[in-house]
Amino acid sequence: MTKSIGILTAGGDSPGLNAAIRAIGKSAAAEDMQVIGFRDGFRGLMENRTVRLTADEVSGILTRGGTLLGTSRDKPHKMPVGSRTMDMREKMAEVYESNHLEVLVCLGGGGTQKNAMRLMEVGCNVITLPKTIDNDVYGTDITFGFDTALGIATDAVDRLHSTAHSHHRIIVLEIMGHNTGWLALGAGIAGGADVILIPEIPYDIDIVARAIMQRSKAGKSFSIVAVAEGAVSVEDAQRLEEARAKVDQAESKEDRKQAKSDLRQAQGDHVGNTVRLTHELEERTGLESRLTILGHVQRGGTPSAGDRLLATRLGTACVDLVRDGTYGVMVASRGDGVEALPLEEVVGRRKAVPTDHPWLKGARTVGVSLGD
Ligand code: F6P
Repeated sequence: MTKSIGILTAGGDSPGLNAAIRAIGKSAAAEDMQVIGFRDGFRGLMENRTVRLTADEVSGILTRGGTLLGTSRDKPHKMPVGSRTMDMREKMAEVYESNHLEVLVCLGGGGTQKNAMRLMEVGCNVITLPKTIDNDVYGTDITFGFDTALGIATDAVDRLHSTAHSHHRIIVLEIMGHNTGWLALGAGIAGGADVILIPEIPYDIDIVARAIMQRSKAGKSFSIVAVAEGAVSVEDAQRLEEARAKVDQAESKEDRKQAKSDLRQAQGDHVGNTVRLTHELEERTGLESRLTILGHVQRGGTPSAGDRLLATRLGTACVDLVRDGTYGVMVASRGDGVEALPLEEVVGRRKAVPTDHPWLKGARTVGVSLGD
């Protein structure tokens, strides 16, 4: 009997999603399988909003950014429905059955790996592909979307050099990455930023200011600071740790609710933190400072060659797994090949930048301040 593959894209969009959809669609057609797309992530699955993805339909999308299926950040077990938040997993399992799916392929980041596993728990076969510009999915060498975003952010660092230099300014560039600093670190090094601040290494504002003043004394009257959205000062990191501990230790439901609200307050908002960093640097160094927030431009546009290659490699390998009936796995990138990693090993973990990572060593060696 012809196998039917369901496919959805969830979480923030990433360049390379269409390349992956194309790879799955074309290799499924070659294996005589059919592919049904669900629109807008898990919400489209719940609402059974489908689109047939024949080989013809997925033709010509390799170079297109975004996702032709649309995406959302909805979670199967906590779905806003009208004025309520409901567990819609059983409903999704019904839609899965009614479409006679052999497997549901979920393309997404860390949250999507978790959500796919939640559907496994109600009887669906699932396979996931790791995508996110943050590159923080556990168990894969790299996620698709990262390489394109890295190129965009590096270009921004390059361009900011000439204006910072001309005005003798500090320019702070906020780069995406609320939990991990792969993008800020990679673009910072590749673009030649003078300071790079990432969530994995809490910064001391005095150390950052001193590094900039040293440059100034050495005749370099401008500095570029590449900062990840989630980078925090040492003091804020301490406050966050305490707030997280209170959530873990809360005994009653009420205490937990209060502790979670305190944690949200301690987390503040990313932009607020970056604005404060920019002001503090101006105050401490006496150098005029400006802030650029790169935002969603990092997720937009044509995928890089690297992302197209990666998405095609993972997408075609995914169909090999369907042919062999291997489910409950993420198609991880491993060296030049792939590895089918059980979802239990991926879910609930995040790939942060290790403090001994060669990129960090390289950055320090070429004189970048990491704020520590
Ligand atoms: O998870 C990918 C990501 O681009 C993060 O880097 C960023 O913090 C977040 O999504 C932004 O989310 P949204 O597009 O929902 O505002």
